[in-house]
Amino acid sequence: MSASNNTFDPVRVAVLAPAEVDRMTGDALAAIGAASDFDELKAARLAHRGNRAPLTLASAEVGALPPAARAEAGRRVGQARRLIDEALAARLADLEADRDRRVLLEEAADVTLPWDRVQAGARHPVTTLAERLADVFIGMGYEVAEGPEVEAEWYNFDALNFPPDHPAREMQDTFFVAGPDGAPRSGMVLRTHTSPVQIRAMLTRPLPLYVVSPGKCFRSDPLDATHSPVFHQIEGLAVDEGLTMADLRGAIAAFVEAMFGAGLRTRLRPDYFPFTEPSADVSMQCHVCRGASAEADGSPCRVCKSQGWIEIAGCGMVNPRVLVACGIDPERYSGFAFGLGIERSLMVRNGLADIRDTLEGDVRFSRAFGVEA
Ligand code: PHE
Repeated sequence: MSASNNTFDPVRVAVLAPAEVDRMTGDALAAIGAASDFDELKAARLAHRGNRAPLTLASAEVGALPPAARAEAGRRVGQARRLIDEALAARLADLEADRDRRVLLEEAADVTLPWDRVQAGARHPVTTLAERLADVFIGMGYEVAEGPEVEAEWYNFDALNFPPDHPAREMQDTFFVAGPDGAPRSGMVLRTHTSPVQIRAMLTRPLPLYVVSPGKCFRSDPLDATHSPVFHQIEGLAVDEGLTMADLRGAIAAFVEAMFGAGLRTRLRPDYFPFTEPSADVSMQCHVCRGASAEADGSPCRVCKSQGWIEIAGCGMVNPRVLVACGIDPERYSGFAFGLGIERSLMVRNGLADIRDTLEGDVRFSRAFGVEA
């Protein structure tokens, strides 16, 4: 008969030795104490209380011990489990308290912050001024007409009566679009003014015709305080029976009044454009010194450089050759046209010193003009 196993020494089941259980407990408590977030705590729980944890594996050995040793080892392992579970629960409570504190801080809505001082964007003053100018003419019965920015040379020059050797066609003014196979010209240009829209309107719209055309234009000017290779113009064109220079003057006076207020005189002086005959440049009385050439204290007016007048536009009666190019009978119809630079008008109206400010896209610049719808 074999002897009962009473003499089995639990200390010899190495994993259940008190020092070994203490070590496993110590490891577990250290890992739990070091867990700095929920993931690390979960990893510590799996490592020290999971199915494959050393203590779990050791406790499986308890059943193999003789009854006397089993009770003692069982107590030891149970004690270790309790310690570890308490530590896990305490650490979890700490981490939850931390998280709650953080959430309260991070997700707090500061109801004292002024919601209405959040900076809104602003539309660009070139856009709002172009629209305002167009609106003046829409109010007088004009329609908005548009044309492409990459334009056929024929519309930009030929149909507008620019002779083939006109200096404005030369490289220093015009961006020519290269042709295929490296040819320097394709017959297309970046439009140098909005006047080609006149031609498009006359070719496609019924008479009488009243159109206004705002749009982007391009000239190969170097960028400096007063020139930009990309700028905007707005063009007006009227073709009807019996239109005279008096109608042109009336239209110009109406728009100066809309832009600068009543009471400023306008002046036409002879000028030359191939597509208008006669042609004139338009000046208006300086809106700052109102023609006095000097400021109230007698110092020279900086806005008009003491001229009393500010040049704002080109204009004229549509050249009969242009009417003919568009299939319009110049014996029956006459027309007038005018064109002005929007950036330039903006600079005059708002006292801007540098056109480059309009190009930089800094919302602080736009915002200074107020938020227009
Ligand atoms: N297109 C001319 C320019 O760019 C301006 C203009 C328009 C002149 C219409 C007369 C009539 O300088």
